[in-house]
Amino acid sequence: MAEKLLMRALKGETLDVPPAWMMRQAGRYLPEYKATRAQAGDFLSLCYTPELAAEVTLQPIRRFGFDAAILFADILLVPQALGADLWFVTGEGPRLSTLTDRAGIDALKPADTVHETLNPIYETVRILSRELPEDVALIGFAGAPWTVATYMVAGRGTPDQGPAHALKDGDPDAFGALIDRITEATIEYLSAQIEAGAEVVKIFDSWAGSLKGDDFTRYAVAPTKRIIAALKARHPGIPVIAFPRQAGDGYKNFARETSADCVALDNSVAPEWAAEHVQRGVCVQGNLAPGHMVTGGQALIDEVRHIREAFANGPHIFNLGHGITPDADPDNVALMLETLRERR
Ligand code: CP3
Repeated sequence: MAEKLLMRALKGETLDVPPAWMMRQAGRYLPEYKATRAQAGDFLSLCYTPELAAEVTLQPIRRFGFDAAILFADILLVPQALGADLWFVTGEGPRLSTLTDRAGIDALKPADTVHETLNPIYETVRILSRELPEDVALIGFAGAPWTVATYMVAGRGTPDQGPAHALKDGDPDAFGALIDRITEATIEYLSAQIEAGAEVVKIFDSWAGSLKGDDFTRYAVAPTKRIIAALKARHPGIPVIAFPRQAGDGYKNFARETSADCVALDNSVAPEWAAEHVQRGVCVQGNLAPGHMVTGGQALIDEVRHIREAFANGPHIFNLGHGITPDADPDNVALMLETLRERR
């Protein structure tokens, strides 16, 4: 059996046609996803029912033929496993109990107990590693500590991550303890996903862009570096994709600083800039604007060709710059893949 395209790109190979997958590829733009989610009852039940979570993971693989499947779960399951209350408000997003002080942080559960809550997720991974087509790679994932902390402190998504910044600046020791706890839990969680059959893991730092200067080094680079070092010590050779979203210049040295095998790019950076400054010797992933999945047409075709050409001289995994949105048209996803895979 030939090596999977995604794994080859992650090892640094430049491929004629880059492997492709899509953030949020299992999602509400697909009628079959909505049907399975309805069967589960709600989003969290879907995450914690291995047969159904595996089913929605497989749906976009069957429909489109992506080169990779991403485990269906959520970055906020780790806070829940650490003891936070978590629920989702339809049409609004996640809600959690808030963390405002050292006492709340110290009361979180120990990192090595997260498996008690997260065991069903590992079962999803085991089902997927049996059921995926043999040329499709299985990606596990977790949120990066900073991004997870922004939700745990505020109890919800925030436009500027204000509450997390306030705790970080007002009580750096307490905030550091929170980052450490999440980091340790994430190492346990990702290790268990790898043991269950994940072939690659991705670390989502969706709010890395709001960390500036030393804060970026301390709270985006350092925890990611620590997670990657621990994973590679336990599981030599496991490739890691890091996504410090909206890092701007912070993308330049991110792979070197963290030992990530691939840096995922959001669509605020020009592919030509990223090819010159980020891709040098390192695999990059990205970075089509998700809006093209809504609008389609010639602009989509042109932009897929543009990104493919810009990254053609180095290792590249094709993806969107952020998750596909519920208003996307599945036909545009098919058109994206058809364009990407056309002969040059
Ligand atoms: O990409 C995939 O298909 C794998 C599954 C996955 C989900 N969330 C499923 C999901 C992954 C990798 C995530 C990551 C995630 N979750 C991130 C990081 C990536 C990013 O988008 O920046 C964040 C910040 C979260 C937290 C989260 N989960 C939010 C803010 C929301 C609400 C926004 C929304 O899109 O509704 C969720 C819910 C969520 N996670 C959905 C899905 C498919 C939609 C829930 C539904 O079906 O109603």
